[in-house]
Amino acid sequence: MANGTHVLVLPFPGQGHINPMLQFASRLASKGLKTTLVTTVFISKSIYSDHPIASTSFRTISDGFDEGGFAQAKSPDIYLSTFKSVGSQSLASLIKELGDTGSPVHAVIYDGFMAWALDVAKQLGIRAAVFLTQSCAVNSIHYHVSRGLLKVPAEGSSVWLPGLPELKVWELPSLIYHHGSYPAWFDTIVNQFSNIDEADWVLVNTFYELEKEVVDWMSKIWKLGTIGPTIPSMYLDKRLKYNKDYGLQLLHPNTSACMRWLNTKPNGSVVYVSFGSFAEVGVEQMAEIAWGLIGTNAYFLWVVREPEEPKLPDNFKHMTREKGLIVRWCPQLEVLKHGSVGCFVSHCGYNSVLEALGLGIPMVAMPQWADQATNAKHVEDVWGVGVRALVDEKGIVRRETIKQCINEVIMGGERGNEIKKNSIKWKNLAIKAADHGGSSDKNMDEFVAKITS
Ligand code: UDX
Repeated sequence: MANGTHVLVLPFPGQGHINPMLQFASRLASKGLKTTLVTTVFISKSIYSDHPIASTSFRTISDGFDEGGFAQAKSPDIYLSTFKSVGSQSLASLIKELGDTGSPVHAVIYDGFMAWALDVAKQLGIRAAVFLTQSCAVNSIHYHVSRGLLKVPAEGSSVWLPGLPELKVWELPSLIYHHGSYPAWFDTIVNQFSNIDEADWVLVNTFYELEKEVVDWMSKIWKLGTIGPTIPSMYLDKRLKYNKDYGLQLLHPNTSACMRWLNTKPNGSVVYVSFGSFAEVGVEQMAEIAWGLIGTNAYFLWVVREPEEPKLPDNFKHMTREKGLIVRWCPQLEVLKHGSVGCFVSHCGYNSVLEALGLGIPMVAMPQWADQATNAKHVEDVWGVGVRALVDEKGIVRRETIKQCINEVIMGGERGNEIKKNSIKWKNLAIKAADHGGSSDKNMDEFVAKITS
């Protein structure tokens, strides 16, 4: 144990937030810290784990919805405000209890989506690090909004911000471009920066080489620690032999069916399609994806979460049984690592983007909401690791577009080959950043040194 220093790691209760923060906790544990991941009572009842993370302890707090979590609340607004009030008290009680039972907390690493956790830590005289789960580019945009430096709705057709490429307004995060669409989420995202100046550390799930210019710019405001990509070690630098997956799944992956099926497919012949844990795709869009997939020559593995299943065209599963496999959830990292997968059609949730980058898989970007349009812009124009499937005037990506984009990525040709080359380049850079002496590894060492001093 580094000094017996104990940190609480507090992700927002969603798969896309638990994964990176639990992985970060594992890395910190490997560097000698005692780590405890704090989930909500409801999440703790619904999680599934193939490889429990022995290096990290687990505790719970209440979000006020112990029986049903987010789905139990009548609206996002009610969930988020209740979580803030009940969660603050519950977190303070947990920290006191840990102190009374011989496991005092020395620092709290909290998800930026829960800015209230910083207030709790400060009231109890404990140091705190904010962990920003989105890209530095997206954080910078939200920071500008929070300080009134970027007006919402954005004016004109493009915005220019320091360290970022020109962004068309539709390439901004959806909560800004479609201002007013989800006011409670907008407030949560902008609030990440309301008290951030009081945080002792600012950690971002990116790596320096990936977002140099904007990291340099943001580092002038706070001392930033880029510590990503937070992908299990065995998929990246392979230094931590036990670190084989994220450790906690909110949905049960259909691992054996996926792997058996992928094992029968030739190298690079499968398109993997997933829109993450949260996005709800419209019925018309689902049909266009379905027909687009039929139109390509590739095999496909498509994750359609249970509530989304009724949106599939009638008889689609049966009709495509030779060509495709549809599952409710899969072990995404194992799938991306499988040699048969040649392309990832993704909503561009930030974890999915980092995973595709870290494993060198080219992408077709179909952003849905939140930060995803900005991530997709980077995938295509900044990192050159994929193509964007653009929407029509109704906001739908049509089957022809989907087919063309997939073919472009999977069948080679000048652009496809360039994308593949870039994907390998970024994979190597991601591994280097996480490996011993890499930029993220050094920042983590520096963080551990400071937190234990
Ligand atoms: C959300 C937001 O949508 C995203 O934009 C934000 O940056 C983070 O929070 P989510 O939509 O779930 O996340 O997408 P993503 O960030 O890609 O996270 C999904 C995670 O679930 C990934 O780590 C992925 O590996 C995992 N996953 C996804 C599976 O394990 N199995 C699946 O079948 C699908």
